[in-house]
Amino acid sequence: MHSRLGPGAALMRMLHTALGTTFTKGISKYLQKYKYANAAQEDLWQCLTEAAQEDGRNVQVKEVMDTWTLQMGFPVVTVSRDYSNGRVTVSQRHFLYDPEVNAPESLRNNVWQVPLTFMSRDSGNLSRDNGGVSIHDVFWLRKREEDFHFDINGSSWLLANTNQSGYYRVNYDVTNWRLLTEDLNSDNFQNIPAQSRSGLIDDAFNLVRSGDLTPAVALNLSRYLKRERDYLPWLAAERAFGYLHMMMADTNGSSDLKVYVQSLVTPIYHELGWENSGDHTTMLNGLTVLSMACRYGLPRCLRKAREMKNALDDGGSVEPNMKTIILQYGTDRTGSGLVAAILNRTRSLVDSGLFTKADLLNKLMTLVDSKEEKMLVFNFLKDNWDYMMEGFDIKARKIILTWTDSFRQFEEFVASHHNMASRSDVTKALERIRQNVLWRERHENAVRGWLAQERRGRG
Ligand SMILES: *[C@@H]1O[C@H](CO)[C@@H](O)[C@H](O)[C@H]1NC(C)=O
Ligand SMILES: *[C@@H]1O[C@H](CO)[C@@H](O)[C@H](O)[C@H]1NC(C)=O
Ligand SMILES: *[C@@H]1O[C@H](CO)[C@@H](O)[C@H](O)[C@H]1NC(C)=O
Ligand SMILES: *[C@@H]1O[C@H](CO)[C@@H](O)[C@H](O)[C@H]1NC(C)=O
Ligand SMILES: *[C@@H]1O[C@H](CO)[C@@H](O)[C@H](O)[C@H]1NC(C)=O
Ligand SMILES: *[C@@H]1O[C@H](CO)[C@@H](O)[C@H](O)[C@H]1NC(C)=O
Repeated sequence: MHSRLGPGAALMRMLHTALGTTFTKGISKYLQKYKYANAAQEDLWQCLTEAAQEDGRNVQVKEVMDTWTLQMGFPVVTVSRDYSNGRVTVSQRHFLYDPEVNAPESLRNNVWQVPLTFMSRDSGNLSRDNGGVSIHDVFWLRKREEDFHFDINGSSWLLANTNQSGYYRVNYDVTNWRLLTEDLNSDNFQNIPAQSRSGLIDDAFNLVRSGDLTPAVALNLSRYLKRERDYLPWLAAERAFGYLHMMMADTNGSSDLKVYVQSLVTPIYHELGWENSGDHTTMLNGLTVLSMACRYGLPRCLRKAREMKNALDDGGSVEPNMKTIILQYGTDRTGSGLVAAILNRTRSLVDSGLFTKADLLNKLMTLVDSKEEKMLVFNFLKDNWDYMMEGFDIKARKIILTWTDSFRQFEEFVASHHNMASRSDVTKALERIRQNVLWRERHENAVRGWLAQERRGRG
């Protein structure tokens, strides 16, 4: 799954990978043929199919793409290996965060035509000719489940969806997750390309959310981030831990989580620091790392943010990119002081034009760090609902994410407010809250236990 691209771009990327050089050929065919005419998507599929035939590939592009464009959602592909004989069973089903609540039968039956790519630890040496799997081969999964056979050393991991080129998530059997994790936690971690490392983090933590994977697998995998210097994996980690942080914020596992993330981010924090120099990606990575370091409370980061905030207050200037981080984390906050102060001044802050309502709510969401603060925000929104919704175009569900454990309260609130129950964003919010409640029931104890063990391990 390539989480930064929209579905359209992600599907074209997948098709490109699946067709290889044929893709470029088909595109130029299409551009030439329709230079002066309007053309539809179907015409593009036709040109790509013709190009594939010319290149000796039997791919009906329309048939393939219809499974992606006409069906809702996308699949999770599960890769299960038989280590005794090299058989690899690959199955697919609709990926849903909450299969129990919101999957109508029709969605459960969706089947996609999935182009599969693989690599293994020894990919470089092997090709399909000698029974191995080459990174350039594309295998099609067209049914709900199919078997493949690869001659892969049982001690080597198998990775699917190389470089995140396909629009789907991938799950593995626990042994393969362990093999991947072991290599990531070794000096060889770059054997797995950065885009795939990012995909592994993203998939693992999202599969925990959907109940397909136990948190220990994802968290064990995340340990390798101490070694990570690339941007994409850190971006995936920022999202993954952002969700975890939100779920754990008002539990007694919150401080363990912070300390754990600090331990992961410290090495790269020291390398990139506050320089914010280098190429574009390094600069973006620097900002991601800084904001994670400060958000999870790395003392050095907070100290520096305060220093820079003071310099700013004294009329100094700072890198515009960093200003947000400095303003957010350079302000001293004691207990619920800052959240309460923002809530108290919401109307004047909005009236002054300094912040939009959406800005303020987003800020509050990153600040909320305890049950008390959550309740403050919840009560504020409840009391000021009409004001906050007026002219407010971001989806209500975004705000409501802060209310994870107030599901019943929220339901009652929705029922008692005119026009609320029929709003689709409110319905989505309710679904999202249900998912979060489910997450807590399923995973909170396991995550807390893992983090406590990690703390004891650090001694
Ligand atoms: C594959 O090649 C690498 C170096 O190119 C080597 O270290 C590794 O042992 C080889 N693996 C196999 C299975 O031959
Ligand atoms: C994955 O991406 C890297 C960097 O963009 C590239 O060098 C590599 O060839 C890609 N591998 C595959 C199998 O596409
Ligand atoms: C599998 O790999 C391990 C080490 O990576 C090696 O010791 C073993 O000989 C390999 N087995 C085969 C059958 O190549
Ligand atoms: C996670 O790592 C710990 C310590 O290395 C190990 O004991 C445990 O079995 C691993 N859990 C999973 C699910 O892989
Ligand atoms: C944390 O809270 C849980 C219940 O929510 C409790 O079982 C556990 O003992 C608490 N742990 C600590 C260290 O306070
Ligand atoms: C909020 O405003 C009230 C009255 O305007 C004031 O008494 C209270 O101290 C303020 N609280 C905070 C945290 O700023």
